[in-house]
Amino acid sequence: MSLEDELEARRQRAYAQRSPEERKVRAAAVTAVANAQTAERALGEGEPIPRFQLPSIEGGLADAGLLLERGPLVISFYRGGWCPYCNIELRSLQRWLPDIEALGASLVAISPEMPDRTLMTVQSDALTFPVLFDKGNEVARQFRLTHQIDPQVVRYQLGNGNDVAAYNGMDTAEVPLPATYVIGADGVVRYAFVDADYTRRADPEVLVGVLRDLAAERDATSGAASAPASATGAGTVAMSSEQITAEVLAAIGRASGTRTGEILSAVIRHTHDLAREVRLQPGELLAAADFLRRCGDISDEARHEYILLSDVLGLTMVVDTEAAGVADGALETSVLGPFYRAGAPWQPNGANISRGTGDGEPARIHGRILDTSGTPVTGAVLDVWGTNGHGLYENVDPSQPDYNLRGRFRSAADGSYDLWTVKPVSYPIPDDGPVGELLAVTGRHNMRPAHFHVIASADGYQSVVTELYTDDDPYLGSDAVFGVKPSLVVHYDHIDDSQALAAAGRSEPYWDLEYDFILTPGQASSAGFSTGRRRAV
Ligand SMILES: [Fe+2]
Repeated sequence: MSLEDELEARRQRAYAQRSPEERKVRAAAVTAVANAQTAERALGEGEPIPRFQLPSIEGGLADAGLLLERGPLVISFYRGGWCPYCNIELRSLQRWLPDIEALGASLVAISPEMPDRTLMTVQSDALTFPVLFDKGNEVARQFRLTHQIDPQVVRYQLGNGNDVAAYNGMDTAEVPLPATYVIGADGVVRYAFVDADYTRRADPEVLVGVLRDLAAERDATSGAASAPASATGAGTVAMSSEQITAEVLAAIGRASGTRTGEILSAVIRHTHDLAREVRLQPGELLAAADFLRRCGDISDEARHEYILLSDVLGLTMVVDTEAAGVADGALETSVLGPFYRAGAPWQPNGANISRGTGDGEPARIHGRILDTSGTPVTGAVLDVWGTNGHGLYENVDPSQPDYNLRGRFRSAADGSYDLWTVKPVSYPIPDDGPVGELLAVTGRHNMRPAHFHVIASADGYQSVVTELYTDDDPYLGSDAVFGVKPSLVVHYDHIDDSQALAAAGRSEPYWDLEYDFILTPGQASSAGFSTGRRRAV
């Protein structure tokens, strides 16, 4: 039976065993992986592989560099022994091992499963080739293969007794996309099979075909080596842009294994790929460099154009959302923005942070700070800021008092907090600089929906940088910086009833927002950026 026949039989069996709901959830999860284009972004043909060393389950280290000195290398990334499709593929590779080795190549399989689990797979599938333990998916990450299994699918897996996160010794169910590579002896990928659908695997016949081509090339090269240079044209072949990419990556090799190295190599790979994809022209690269120079020129102690640029490109929200890992139902993140100013005055509960004249319509914001089980968090800090009714933050508006509409509050013993400010209004982000040009050429407006900024923090909890968005704002669906998340949309009640006003000790109508902040256990951290205040001219 061919590998594809075995996989198809398994697909049909799995389909028959699952409820319509589970089928739907699993199909949607595969579609989400496809939409995220993880497979398209994975290390691909023509790219050099990272030189890794990984412990083999039989003992000792497998060194990619040493294996390549012997000849081509076939690498199979698999999800784990819990995955039936992975076992089918591994057993198939075992059957093809003699053909692979006959062509002078080596075969290794890699998964993030802990050694005891990997050993079970080696034994149950009777594998004789090296199976390597990739702790924390470190190597899979360098191949750009990692992704998180959809939480709903994880629930089904747990129901089947499979705890993938625990199998991998990790906090989350992160796995590589199943992938099979054929690497030439020069360390460059000659064939890559990566598919968003985990039930699809590389055809071993194709792998062996690629190895046959490599063997033929090797024979041709060794035959031509004795020919005179003039006949082969040696030294006259133009260098490809991919070779330049490989050279640049090799140049930062010393940083490999460091976080800086990981980030820089990704920057190099992605920017080089971007240049190839859009066939970037030299004049366009210079225009981009000039754009960035002007972002620097217009920035000052009260304005940070690069943060604004990251915000309008949606990069800030991607980074915040990926980094946050907040619990289900807990407070979610949104953008910090370029107007946060650290050191706002401490205020007692019930205080009003509107200290200017004509700041806007009065608003009371109150509620509790709770943990995910509903227990009040005492002494939690809310660092809050907002604009006045004209949409201006005090640091860019010298007519407002210092630290106007900014303050820090601590939750009381019962977790409660209570503050007065003004009702947020929508406002334009600055469009008189390079970011404004970018918005204009892409036909976008520069408005942000009305929002109230908060950094919520407490010892033993993740600090959350976020915003609360007013539900009646016309820009809610088209935020210039993509900050709106449904859980952050809030409703202010208009209090104008004389009895309610009397109970609140107010003579004028006001807006009332009751909101509970739910914190996720974890490590507290600082905002990492603070703006200055523009001087009056
Ligand atoms: Fe803002």
